[in-house]
Amino acid sequence: MSGSDSEPELSSETLRILQEVMREQQAQQERFERLRQQAEVQFDGVQQQNASDEPTATKESESVTMDIFSEDWQLSQFWYDEDTSEKLAREILDNITPESVVCCISSPTAYVKLMSMNPPNKNNLFLFEYDTRFDIYGKQFIHYDYSSPLEFRLAKELQHSVDMIVVDPPFLSEECLTKTLESVKHLLKPASASSEGGKVVLCTGLTMANVASQSLKGLEITTFHPGHRNGLSNDFRCYVNYRSRQFHHLSS
Ligand SMILES: C[S@@+](CC[C@H](N)C(=O)[O-])C[C@H]1O[C@@H](n2cnc3c(N)ncnc32)[C@H](O)[C@@H]1O
Repeated sequence: MSGSDSEPELSSETLRILQEVMREQQAQQERFERLRQQAEVQFDGVQQQNASDEPTATKESESVTMDIFSEDWQLSQFWYDEDTSEKLAREILDNITPESVVCCISSPTAYVKLMSMNPPNKNNLFLFEYDTRFDIYGKQFIHYDYSSPLEFRLAKELQHSVDMIVVDPPFLSEECLTKTLESVKHLLKPASASSEGGKVVLCTGLTMANVASQSLKGLEITTFHPGHRNGLSNDFRCYVNYRSRQFHHLSS
């Protein structure tokens, strides 16, 4: 039997579809590469701009949308719907000043939306994420794995200096939530005589309510139900550790 006899042949239609998929993948990779390169340039620009107190808005990050990041369910990626990402980004904007330091942990949709809304100082806004596709944000991207909650770039510099955190742990387990909140407590600005301390918005399942309130003092469940683009079967909730104008405590 000759080699060609034993190899299955693809129909021309299957070949066409395969080539189309490969072209799309290549275009996607090229786009990410362009965005990465631009982030490098922008970060240098941001540092120079800071010296002259100019706004740090960057052109490329404004054009990034979540549409370029397909959900990877192996990484528990379930993106928020438009309404939820807008509400979370708006919540951040309503609670910060140009000096505030903000971290979005495992919540890239909120970060991408925030960066598109002309925030006051992009240099102070960080995305903690496991998925390295988001390194298109250059120095603002911090590679993060909840299973090593205190091991990440800038862990020392950011310790107890963060004014606001939006966090959505990848898994609905006690281990994942407590470790992720360990990172949150490490980062968060503590309360003092002159400041009420850092603010936290946690999005996770209703089943995690007890672990959440036990792991981080002051976290309370709100009436806001974060929504997801492709739906989610779990009862999903939002918790905050401060009085939010938008997300009201369930108990009040
Ligand atoms: C439940 S999703 C939350 C995403 C959120 N709904 C959004 O739209 O931005 C969990 C996030 O955790 C990230 N993730 C996956 N594995 C992780 C890990 N080991 N450590 C930290 N984050 C992880 C995923 O990439 C994803 O962005």
